[in-house]
Amino acid sequence: MTDVTENLPALKDEALNAIAEASDLSALDAVRVAELGKKGRISGLMKTLGKMSPEERQEMGPRLNGLRNEVAAAIDARKAALETAALNAKLESERVDLTLPPRPEPVGALHPVMQVFEEIAAIFGEMGFAVAEGPDIEDDFHNFTALNFPEGHPAREDHDTFFMHPDENGVRKVLRTHTSPVQIRTMMSEKPPIRVIIPGRVYRKDWDATHTPMFHQVEGLVIDKTTHMGHLKQCLTDFLAAFFEVETAETRFRPHFFPFTEPSAEMDVRCDRSGDTIKVGEGDSWLEILGSGMVHPNVLRNVGLDPDEYQGFAFGMGVDRLAMLKYGMPDLRPYFEADVDWISHYGFKPWLLPSLSGGLS
Ligand code: DAH
Repeated sequence: MTDVTENLPALKDEALNAIAEASDLSALDAVRVAELGKKGRISGLMKTLGKMSPEERQEMGPRLNGLRNEVAAAIDARKAALETAALNAKLESERVDLTLPPRPEPVGALHPVMQVFEEIAAIFGEMGFAVAEGPDIEDDFHNFTALNFPEGHPAREDHDTFFMHPDENGVRKVLRTHTSPVQIRTMMSEKPPIRVIIPGRVYRKDWDATHTPMFHQVEGLVIDKTTHMGHLKQCLTDFLAAFFEVETAETRFRPHFFPFTEPSAEMDVRCDRSGDTIKVGEGDSWLEILGSGMVHPNVLRNVGLDPDEYQGFAFGMGVDRLAMLKYGMPDLRPYFEADVDWISHYGFKPWLLPSLSGGLS
């Protein structure tokens, strides 16, 4: 017995050291088995209590129990520490740094042409216009014939049309040269009263500082029984004041020719060109801004409407040019160069949708 008694402190140190040095849960469990398991060292000592004399047992019982409890407690504490460390390591490896901005430097922006489309739709939306659309690849009927461009008429040549390859019947489709064909599509699919604007891409063989082979137009069409040229003028005058964000705009008609309207007129808006930028709403100059007119009776007939019953107006404007005028961009070509510096300078925040009540720009 004395052997055991003398060795107890050394045994305890050894066990506690092994516990402290166990670097993971399985190493710790090996120590537990070696000391407290069925065949463990301390368990073995406990078994010797039965063979001791009562006096010896009285002395050794509490000492061995104390030893066992101390070692068990040390194992529990070490286990808790190892588990916490393992959890922390896992959490650290799965860490997400929520303080990082989603993109360090946001450079994406809404293109000025898209912004101007939104602005135009917001203004005409308030006036009760719906938005209509049509295909970029058109046939001759919708792009020209139904719009009263007679076969061989020089106005067809004015458009510098891109033709597609002829099909098996020798028929060539075209990239639409204007948004006016959607007037035809709308009148053929809807019953009057009609009040639509038609935003879209259009194509012509042209390339310089103010012309690109693809550009954007917004068309307007109103058809009912009573709409006249006075409505046309006031509607567009109100539109221009709202678009250029001025109190009032002054406009004038200049007689013009379009095959699909009669009478036809170009509309100018009063502006001031004396400074660096053009100011709409004041000044001594006039700025040509759009084409318009009363829908030609032949066009109404071509879509099956009786010109003695129905009438209305149409207009078309170049959106790229409107954007240049409003936002002071001197050259059209960078619109389509996908230059990040340019878009971050001239672009708009995409989530600030324009509205008349909330502000256009
Ligand atoms: N389609 C014409 C063009 O591209 C623009 C235009 C003029 C449209 C007068 C119209 C209009 O609806 O009435 O040159």
